[in-house]
Amino acid sequence: MKPIILVSVISITTALVLYTIAVWRNWRTKQLTTAQLVLLWLGLAADLLATRMMGLSIEGPIVWDFHTISGYTGLGLMALLAVLGSWARWRQHAGLLGSFHRIAIPVWLIWVASYVTGVIIGMQRV
Ligand code: HEM
Repeated sequence: MKPIILVSVISITTALVLYTIAVWRNWRTKQLTTAQLVLLWLGLAADLLATRMMGLSIEGPIVWDFHTISGYTGLGLMALLAVLGSWARWRQHAGLLGSFHRIAIPVWLIWVASYVTGVIIGMQRV
């Protein structure tokens, strides 16, 4: 396995851990906190880094297949979730802060599905 792929796998797994802690803490508290948002943004940073490195590991333009489309879909949804949560915190939107977990859990499930398929498909490419 190329070192860049190894580092990106570690980075994407870090994203999984950070997203999971953020989303499940939010599920338990039912109130979006700044600490949960920070974890979500850190997860997004690790996700972005991993994606960038996987892209750099190959030469030439991106190939749109199941692996790349599901990876970018999960990343995009998590980015929207982090922006939405930050907006809710900034505006002190009580309704959204209290119901954030109803959106966060489905987005997390989609992201985890893209992680699992990403690992299965990705491992066949190295
Ligand atoms: C063992 C795990 C993984 C390996 C070995 C791996 C490997 C690779 C490789 C070699 C590429 C280059 C393009 C290609 O061949 O299609 C790639 C691209 C990509 N991977 Fe992974 N991958 C893994 C897991 C994941 C996971 C878990 C995700 C997302 C949750 C993901 C998201 C992406 C994305 C978005 C791209 C496109 C990057 C770009 O070209 O801009 N991968 N991966």
